Amino acid sequence: MIITDIDFAEMYRRHMRQSDRPPKPASAWDARAKRLGIQESDTRYTDEFVRRMNLSGAKTLLDVGCGAGTIALRAAHQMDHVIGLDYSPGMLERMRERAAFQGLANVTTCLRSWDDPWDDIPVCDIVVASRSSMVPDMEFILEKMTRQARVRCYMTHLADGHFGDAEIARLLGRKKRAFPDYLYIINLLHRMGVYPTLDYIALPGRLAETRSADEFLEKVSGTFGELTDSERERVQHWYQADPARAQAGGGPMRWAFIGWDVR
Ligand SMILES: C[S@@+](CC[C@H](N)C(=O)[O-])C[C@H]1O[C@@H](n2cnc3c(N)ncnc32)[C@H](O)[C@@H]1O
Repeated sequence: MIITDIDFAEMYRRHMRQSDRPPKPASAWDARAKRLGIQESDTRYTDEFVRRMNLSGAKTLLDVGCGAGTIALRAAHQMDHVIGLDYSPGMLERMRERAAFQGLANVTTCLRSWDDPWDDIPVCDIVVASRSSMVPDMEFILEKMTRQARVRCYMTHLADGHFGDAEIARLLGRKKRAFPDYLYIINLLHRMGVYPTLDYIALPGRLAETRSADEFLEKVSGTFGELTDSERERVQHWYQADPARAQAGGGPMRWAFIGWDVR
């Protein structure tokens, strides 16, 4: 077998079906939106994303799965017009509130999903999908993004296939099957005749920045669910063995940052 024999589109779909987590409905994101404030959050991630984008020659931007407007609102300061697209009405409401709070008048929102028709959405110079590509069919969304862009596309996708720290997951014996990672995307774009650029955004993970074993245990149960007594003991042991490593939260959360020009 050689690499051209592999059907990456079908392989991705199969891998996604085998992942443990069922697809999240929009209502789950509405609930998350309620917990977001008016101020921009996650600024380190946004800084890293935005500084990797080349906005030259671009006046319009479409942010797909925009959440509360993480990327679109930052870019809005340099664009004539930005559109945030999301299937969660709660997230779009939060985006409009944040736009008003920042005095931005060039922002519109669009309640739509990846799967809905986009015929009435204008083609934009830049199309981005930040942390919003956990979909059943990757080939479909890569083609859709590329058709919707005039100049360039950017996206971030899980680099290692896990949200929680892999070492802690192993320690707890949680055998979560990894999600499909960015390598599918690189191969799919290559098949589309596209030459993507690849970089990584590595930031402290969800378990980082604790000052005590108790705080760490609280974060671990927030990520992995309620812990049994023996699990708590194992985590405590792991924490005490190397508190500096534990306070850093184990390994970083790594996002693959992928960009491509549209011809
Ligand atoms: C992890 S959040 C990322 C939000 C933002 N892009 C960021 O990086 O902070 C994922 C977002 O994708 C949206 N989303 C998930 N599946 C979607 C779908 N099928 N169609 C449209 N939006 C979707 C969710 O509502 C949520 O706002």
